[in-house]
Amino acid sequence: MNKQSIGIFDSGIGGTSIWKEIKKVLPFEDTIYLADSKNAPYGEKSPQEILDLSIKNTEYLLSRNCKIIVVACNTATTNAISYLRSKFDIPFIGIEPAIKPAVLKSTSKKIGILATKGTLSSALFNNTSNAYSKGITIIEQDGEGLVPLIEAGLVNSIETRQLLLKYITPMVEQGIDHLVLGCTHYPYLIPVLKGLMPPHIQIIDSGEAVAKQTKNVLEKYDLLLETGVSTNQLYTNADVAILKTFLKGYTVDVSYLNF
Ligand code: DGL
Repeated sequence: MNKQSIGIFDSGIGGTSIWKEIKKVLPFEDTIYLADSKNAPYGEKSPQEILDLSIKNTEYLLSRNCKIIVVACNTATTNAISYLRSKFDIPFIGIEPAIKPAVLKSTSKKIGILATKGTLSSALFNNTSNAYSKGITIIEQDGEGLVPLIEAGLVNSIETRQLLLKYITPMVEQGIDHLVLGCTHYPYLIPVLKGLMPPHIQIIDSGEAVAKQTKNVLEKYDLLLETGVSTNQLYTNADVAILKTFLKGYTVDVSYLNF
C-alpha cells in the first residue's frame, strides 16, 4: 500500500482518455496529470524534441514524488520510453497502437491505423507492425491536423469531420474491418468516427489495457492503494477551460501550471 500519486503525462488533453480508464480500475489512487498542450502536437516534432519534452514532464512528476509514471501518449511512448526506463528508477507504463488485437480479430485481413507521424515513423511502432504484418494488410494513416483541432475543443466541427473523412475513406474503400486508434486524443473522435464509417468496422484503442497494466505493475511492486478518498490534480500549461470541458462529471482539481 502506498499513498504516492500515479503520474500521467501527454502532449495535451488526449491522455485524459487514459486517465479516465485508470480511474475506473484504480479509483482510490491519487493522480497528477500533465497536459503539455503548449507543446502540442508532439507528433510533428523530431524524435529528439519528443524525448526532451518527455524528460521534462517526467522530471516534474518525479519532483512531486510519483510512484509510477504513465506515458499517456503513443508518440512519447514510441519515441522515448526506452530512454526514460533506462534513465529513471521508477516503473513506466506506455501506450502503443493496438496492432496485435486488431490483427488477431480481423477477418478481412485488412486493418487501418490512425496515428501521428511521430508514432508511425518510430522504430518501436515499425518493429511491432512488421512482427504482425504477415498475411495482413496494415494501412497506416497520419492524422495530421486532428490533435490541434481536439486541443481547440473542436471535436465535432465540420473541419474535424472533413479531415476524418479524408483519412478514413481510403481505408474503408480498401476493406478494413478494424481501425486502430494510435493516439490518445482520438478516442474523443469515436462518436464522430462511428457516424462516418460502416457499422461493421470495429474501432480499437488501448486505454483499458493500459489501465489494467498500470494496476498489474502497482500490484507487482506492492504499490497499490485500495481504500480511501483520492485527490486528482490535473495541470495544463495552456487553456484551463478547455481541459475542464474534457473532465465534466469528474471530481478533479484542474489548474494552470507553467511547466
Ligand atoms: N496524445 C498523443 C499521442 O497519443 C498526441 C500526440 C501529439 O501531440 O501529436 O500520440
